[in-house]
Amino acid sequence: MMAMRCSGCEIILKPIEFNDYSDMHISDRADKLRESIRHHEHQYYVLDSPEITDAEYDALVRELQQLETGHPELITPDSPTLRVGGKPREGFQKIAHSSPMLSLDNALSTEELRAFDNRVRELLGNAEYRYVAELKMDGLSMAARYRDGVFDLAITRGDGSVGEDVTENARTIRSLPLRVHRRTPFEVRGEVVFNRRAFERLNAEREKDNLPRFANPRNAAAGSLRVLEPGITASRRLDYYTYFALDEEGKFLFDSHWESLDWLAAQGFKVNPKRRVCANVEEAVALCAEWEAERESLPYEIDGVVLKIDSIPQQRQLGFTARAPRWAIAFKYAAQQRETTVVDISVGVGRTGALTPVAHLEPVVVGGVTVSRATLHNEDEIGRLGLEIGDTVLIERSGDVIPKVVRVTKQGETRTPFHMPHECPVCGGHIVREEGEAASRCINANCPARLKESIGHFASRGVLNIDGLGDVLIEQLVDKGLVKSVADLYYLKEAQLADLDRMGPKSAANVIRNIDRSRTLPMPRVLGALGIRFVGERTAELLADHFEDLDRIASATVDELQQAQEVGPKVAESIHAFFEEDHNRQLLARLRAAGLQFKHNAPKREGGTLQGMTFVVTGTLPNLTREDAKAKIEAAGGKVAAAVSRKTNYLLAGEDAGSKLKKAQELGVAVIDEAGLLEMIEKGTR
Ligand code: IVH
Repeated sequence: MMAMRCSGCEIILKPIEFNDYSDMHISDRADKLRESIRHHEHQYYVLDSPEITDAEYDALVRELQQLETGHPELITPDSPTLRVGGKPREGFQKIAHSSPMLSLDNALSTEELRAFDNRVRELLGNAEYRYVAELKMDGLSMAARYRDGVFDLAITRGDGSVGEDVTENARTIRSLPLRVHRRTPFEVRGEVVFNRRAFERLNAEREKDNLPRFANPRNAAAGSLRVLEPGITASRRLDYYTYFALDEEGKFLFDSHWESLDWLAAQGFKVNPKRRVCANVEEAVALCAEWEAERESLPYEIDGVVLKIDSIPQQRQLGFTARAPRWAIAFKYAAQQRETTVVDISVGVGRTGALTPVAHLEPVVVGGVTVSRATLHNEDEIGRLGLEIGDTVLIERSGDVIPKVVRVTKQGETRTPFHMPHECPVCGGHIVREEGEAASRCINANCPARLKESIGHFASRGVLNIDGLGDVLIEQLVDKGLVKSVADLYYLKEAQLADLDRMGPKSAANVIRNIDRSRTLPMPRVLGALGIRFVGERTAELLADHFEDLDRIASATVDELQQAQEVGPKVAESIHAFFEEDHNRQLLARLRAAGLQFKHNAPKREGGTLQGMTFVVTGTLPNLTREDAKAKIEAAGGKVAAAVSRKTNYLLAGEDAGSKLKKAQELGVAVIDEAGLLEMIEKGTR
């Protein structure tokens, strides 16, 4: 192949073999490659006007990768090769925003838009003002910080004051420049969006892999930015459109919003080309209508138009309400609706065992996205709609909600009514619909659809306290088929765990030890761990006090169950239905075989583990409320006093403990935390 020079960036396009570098300094070539890749990324991902073919671009990246692999010392923090996604992370660190990331007030009609304009005019004392109109892209907002001209940090909106550090994931977004001209630190804010074509492709792939589809591009964008593995974000091809430029303190860099958008574009950021200055609200109204007509032909989702006062001094004058600026408004477009036919209704089982009927539709494009499923929520909703299979319906997509059926527009010529199944479509377990509840649920605790949730509950604090058995581990245990029932936890071997991702011999031993320890926890914990609806910690203890034996609870009639304190018909029915289910009886038998506690030695007030001890409780405890803590202390024979004195044996202190903690320290009273208390209580009850 002949060496060619790219007219855009002047680089020699033919990939050079390693031994060709003899007369060229390798670091010079790496610099040149980075500069060239940056240029082409900007052309392709920001300006949508590529100058070279994909293959030529790939060749440049590959060459740089080879160079950097051979000479890791040459890797710079802004190298485009870092966009492929680095190591997975354990979680996201929380980071405070430089100034709050607020949301916008909405105008749902042109009248509301004009009313907003009237308020602005009044507040500005009839001074001249103009608006900048931008599309309201339906994604999620993110702040990106730059230092010394290099991308440094990306933070999600979070609660507006504090967001999550998603730097490594954001780095994989090709339209986010890794290097800019301005060297003084600054921050940009904008929207991470998923384009529709990429969204449809992703959903098609997920369907093939038997994974649940994303409901809309916005959810897909959120799901892709907040994954622990940057490689996944990289594969999803997100886009980042910016609309604010701020200094380090969170103040706007320019006096005109319009000017700041131009500046952002000149720095290499992607700024939506659909932006316009409007001299007055009528121009804005006309523009909103014009852009709405083009809505479906855009490559990404929008849900309205944002109007902002152009002059920053005027923005300052207008100020903010508690949740939104008074200088901007979002004109929201109506939800998009289309008619189609319901060809079938299937039932999905969620993580809590709740059954959701799903309408299968003749595929139809709504707002630029092909819709072939819509949620029907529950049985009552189907009744309310009067829907049967074969009917023509109006479906609606709006914002980030799952497409839904609005109403039946025409009954089908042949119609088939839908009935909720009596058996779970996933495991064959019993389906129960509690009185007064909309949802029908599978009550098999080991149903594969709810197994991960069941294990999470089983292991959680205050239940069987299996520390170290977190979501990531549960995910792997179930996906690899190592745990098909919560009882399987008791048969796991250290070696099986040590082989899993993010585990090692030490953490494996730790988890196994904690699983073993849970065998000794008192019976009410075991009962609570089963995840029976309406049976929380307190009910479990009352049932245990009354029956003293888990097997007796399992075989009790609804009437007998109601003999226990505070157990009414609803709770009794739920417990009875749970143990009627074969799978759950088998689970119980296996838990018994694994050595869990089935007999209850009711903690006696007389002679309990905390007999004769006085406690004072202060501060916020990690899991228990103060009331819970008091109840536990009293149940174990201890006393709880209001103030610390020389007679106090222990101060149970949580976070933000104040004067009581000081007093206890002065008097030399022992201070314990929640874990310490639980340990003291349990020591005697084992
Ligand atoms: S301005 C205080 N401009 O809409 C200023 N927001 O409902 C708030 N959004 O949280 C942001 N496109 O996620 C602004 N051109 C645009 C936008 C936009 C989409 C989102 C953003 C924001 C939400 C407000």
